[in-house]
Order: sequence, then structure tokens, then C-alpha cells
Amino acid sequence: MSIPHKSAAFAPTEEFVSNAHVDAAKYDSMYAASIADPDAFWGEHGKRIDWMKPYTQVKDVNYALGNVSINWYADGTLNVSANCIDRHLATRGDQTAIIWEPDSPTDEALQITYKQLHVSVSKMANVLKGLGVGKGDRVVIYMPMIPEAAYAMLACARIGAIHSIVFAGFSPDALAARVNGSEAKVVITADEAPRGGRNTPLKSNADQALLHTSDKVKCLVVKRTGGQTTWVEGRDYDYNALATEASADCPPEEMNAEDPLFVLYTSGSTGMPKGVVHTTGGYIVYASMTHEITFDYKEGDVFWCTADVGWVTGHSYIVYGPLANGATTLMFEGVPTYPDASRFWQVCEKYKVAQFYTAPTAIRALMAQGDEFVKGTDLSSLKLLGTVGEPINPEAWNWYNEVVGGGNCPIVDTWWQTETGGHLMTPLPGAHAMKPGSAMKPFFGIEPVVLEPATGEIVEGNDVEGVLCIKDSWPGQMRSVWGDHERFEKTYFADYEGYYFTGDGCKRDADGDYWITGRVDDVINVSGHRMGTAEVESALVAHPKVAEAAVVGYPHDIKGQGIYCYITLMNGEVATEELRFELRKWVRTEIGPIASPDLIQWAPGLPKTRSGKIMRRILRKIAENDFGALGDTSTLADPSVVEELIKNRMVIP
Ligand code: WT7
Repeated sequence: MSIPHKSAAFAPTEEFVSNAHVDAAKYDSMYAASIADPDAFWGEHGKRIDWMKPYTQVKDVNYALGNVSINWYADGTLNVSANCIDRHLATRGDQTAIIWEPDSPTDEALQITYKQLHVSVSKMANVLKGLGVGKGDRVVIYMPMIPEAAYAMLACARIGAIHSIVFAGFSPDALAARVNGSEAKVVITADEAPRGGRNTPLKSNADQALLHTSDKVKCLVVKRTGGQTTWVEGRDYDYNALATEASADCPPEEMNAEDPLFVLYTSGSTGMPKGVVHTTGGYIVYASMTHEITFDYKEGDVFWCTADVGWVTGHSYIVYGPLANGATTLMFEGVPTYPDASRFWQVCEKYKVAQFYTAPTAIRALMAQGDEFVKGTDLSSLKLLGTVGEPINPEAWNWYNEVVGGGNCPIVDTWWQTETGGHLMTPLPGAHAMKPGSAMKPFFGIEPVVLEPATGEIVEGNDVEGVLCIKDSWPGQMRSVWGDHERFEKTYFADYEGYYFTGDGCKRDADGDYWITGRVDDVINVSGHRMGTAEVESALVAHPKVAEAAVVGYPHDIKGQGIYCYITLMNGEVATEELRFELRKWVRTEIGPIASPDLIQWAPGLPKTRSGKIMRRILRKIAENDFGALGDTSTLADPSVVEELIKNRMVIP
């Protein structure tokens, strides 16, 4: 996807600017203050959260390799669930906290008030306690997008347990790996997950996963569809029965600011996914502040983030940020195209959504269905639109702006990562004229630096390009990799010493605005989901007929990037269409549908250096259909394999 370096800028309306939390002048002064004196700035903004014991220290950070340690508000204590629920009871107990819209528009929706949320979360917390879960224990959540998923998160936070959500689209194998990785005591799941009119058998997936974990792991099962499940006595617990009995009184545990709040596994360029660790105080300050400022959230607005709670976007902008702000947050169980491509807009109309936040891949998919699906609905409640997950191409941006936003809604293109806890770069809607495809400006306290990839030297000035690093810490930053602090240091602080390395490339344009150009490592972005090519490769080579596999990304109209696999078969194996089918299915069972290969090319040989290293640069070019720029192939052990691969290249459908 090509991103123009410069394009027209869209300024917010005067009306929007005059009502916005932050206008241009305020952004400039707040940003300058946040960089000049982070302690003073974050010391002040930390007060947006209720502390049990107020902090006296603010920032305590060391980026030096071997000693990386990140602490914010380290002597303060608080409870995140009390901040998301209890503190709102006196002022907005009867206000809706969560609107739940089910997969099928004809099923009953729910509006859950802060008071009701308090009862449900306290009960779930007591149920977990009853299963032996205490402070510091890990709980894996493998759930559909139902209110109980949010209850489970907040219940863990309430008792000081650390949750690790595994996206319901992941396979039993992937689930087992994450349960084992975090040594979880309990897995919370549901009987089935309805999506797009089809039910995923979550409990049965969990059953399979639990065959590969310690037999001490308990399984708490929420009823969603009532679909039949097998029951393992002594291991499985019926949530609905236990919750009916449970007390609705569960005082929130006093947590240290640096106690872990959650672990979330995410893919990297090497090895298996790593558990990103977020802690309590800094995370909630950052999630709540970015939610309010980036989306210009105001009292009474209905906020809708279409992500799944299985991703960080769902953590920060469905649950923690909005609820910490006393917002009304919408949780949607379904998909954009069920029953038809007007579903998102129907839901916006039904609940008078003010801020709508989704991914470019969804926008592109809906754009392809035509404008009629939008035009039949009343979207006059919308004040702001947002995107996240991958670069947005100008065509999709313009369609979103004109057809969905009616030309009246600022679009915040929020760039961030699982690791960052919240937005790091985005236009602020009342402060910046937006450029389609640009993440524009750093959030408060964020100092982006562009580095020369090879030397690590700082690239000064404007109209430049390089790898994107962040100079200093911010409260929402990840603190470690679960169980492997060394991997944390190696991944983020070793390549460019003294900086946090994002893994992304970027341009800083002539005006000083930022454009994310995509990953510079072996991570691909499929429909806004991060996928490590190494992970897909290791799934493929685990198949008995596969000798070798190399996986790269290629441009895909809807998904942003598709998954292109080069496969060398074992001697004597025959390349057939059936085998292609089988391998796709294999990867889906090993990892999940999001890792399903789009294109599989049989490769009798792979381009390797004389020392045996696969030259992925060449494979990427072939997949991208960019043969003119193969670069130096003279170091290849056998240059003729390249010719062969080009000749048999898969055609992009
Ligand atoms: C990677 C992080 C945290 C959001 C969900 C994805 C890419 C994310 C943008 C954007 C261009 C973006 C980056 C980043 N990305 N947002 N607005 N523009 N690229 O979280 O799975 O941790 O992936 O997504 O490449 O590094 P994630």
C-alpha cells in the first residue's frame, strides 16, 4: 500500500475546536511541559485516578541495557476495579456503564449500570476467590465478547489476580501454550461464542487445551448459548450457578502501582509470542487520559470501540480507559457484515454513538460493499471517528470521512502497540488538521526519535525517514516480558541503546508530522493483527510433509497484508491442491484462523546464503511482485532458485 508523503490537511470545524478538551495552543503548551518536566506533568495527571495511598514518587526509569527498569508512581497504592466502578457509584450509579449488543440483532441487548456492574464484578471476584485465586495468581480469560468477559477482567483486578486474555479465535494449542506460559490457576471460558451467526465451541476448545496443561488448572464456564458441553467433574465449575450463590460484597484489594494488572501475549519477530506485562498505576492513568483526550470524550457520550477484548485495544478502550472515566462503553459481540454490511451503522444509530473506533481493514471491507449500507442509517450522533492497527490508505480514509463521518467528524489515526498500553501518536481532534494516513503528533510525554536503521544515528530535521524509537518512558509502557526480563531488554532496548525500539519504520514529513510506514522486522500485520512470520513457519514445519517453510507478507486489498508461504516438501511428497488445503487447515488448528496462509507456493529450493541463511528480503520482493528490485543476489549459494521462484510465483487473486 503506498502512502503519499504529503496530502491535503483536514482541519476540525470551529465548533469542534471550541468545545474540545485540547485545542492547538493547549496541545503545544501541554506537550512542551510534558517533555520539559515529566515528573511534574505526570505527577499532576496521575491525580485523575483515585489512590488508596497517594504516590510521592512519579517516574523512576532506567533504559540502560542490563538494568532496564520502568517504574511509575511506585510508592502509591490503588485498585483499578475501584477506579473503574466504585468511585462512580455515588455520582453515576444508575448511568449505563456497558451497553452490550449481541451477535444477532434480534437477540436481547443489555444495558448494565455502574451499580449492576459493581454487583456482577464483586460476585465474579468472590467466585474466583472461592476457586482459590488470590493476589498475584494468573487467570486466563478465553471468552466471547460478552459482559462476563469485562466482569472477569475487573474481578481479577479487584482481587489482585493477573489476567491474561486469549483471543477466542485462537486454537486449543495456542490457548494451552498461554495457560502454561503464565502458569494460570483458572481458565474462564463460555460454552460457545456466537459470531456472524456461527458458534465457536469455546468450551470444547478449552477442553482440548486443558489436556496439555497441569491438571490443577480449573475451568470456570459461563453460559452463553446453552450449547452442550462435556463436563469434567472437579475441574469444571458452572459460573452462573456459583454467581447466584456468591456474595456481592468484595472489597477491592490494595495494590501497589507496580503490581502487574495483566499479561497479554503478542507476536514478535522471533520465537513464540511473548507475554507483555502491564502494571497497575501507570497503565490506568495512561489508558484513561488517552481515552478522554484522543477521543475528546465528554460526559454522556456513548463510546464504541469495535475491537475484541482479546487484543490490547479492547483492554484499554473498551474496558479500562472508558470505565475509569465513567463513560458509557459499547461492547459488540458480532462482526461488521452480519446480518449485512450495515450492522456497524445500525448499531451506531440504535445507541446514538458519539465516538466510533475501528480498524482500517474493517473500513476497507465495508467500503467494498458500497455506500448504500451506510446511507440507509442515521449517523448524526457521530462526533468523532478513529482508526487503529495498521496504516490507513487514503482511499479508505476519505470514504470513512465522507460517507461515514459526513465530512463532519475528525478522524484520529491512533498509532500504538500492545507494548505501549495506550496511544503514542495520533492527531488530537481539536488541535490538529488531519492528513489521511498520518498518525500526526506524539501524545503528551512521548518523544519520538527517527534513527538511521544501520547506524542508530539520530536523523534530525524534517522530510526524513528511518526507524521509530521513543526517547523516554511514559506511564502506560510495558514493564517486562512475563518470566523473561532478558527477552524484554533484548527485544526493545538492545538494537538502539538508550531508546525504546518500536519495530516500526516512519517518516517525518516537511511539517514535522509522523507517518508510520510499517514493521521493519519479521512481523506482519494481517487485518490489524500482529503475526510473527517465525510462528507461522514453525507451525508449517511441524507438518510431517513439510521440510522447510519461509513466510512473508504481501500487499492485500482488504487485510493490509496477506500471508505468503514458500514451502519445500519432504522428499517424495507430491505438491497437490489437497495438500495446500490441508496445510491451511493445519495452521488454523496450530494457531488459529487469523494465521491462515493466503498463498502457498511450492518451492523446491529457497534462496539461501552460502552459510545457509534464508534470504527473506528476496522472498518478500517476489511475494510483492517487485522483481526489478531484488538487490544483490551474488551471495546466494544457488542463484537459479530465484528464477524458479519467480516463474512459479502465485498470482495475487
Ligand atoms: C503494530 C502494533 C495497539 C493497536 C492494535 C495493534 C501497527 C498500529 C497503527 C496506525 C500504522 C499501526 C504498527 C504497530 N499499527 N496502529 N495507526 N498506523 N500502523 O496492536 O498488535 O501490538 O500491533 O500495529 O506496526 O507496531 P499490536
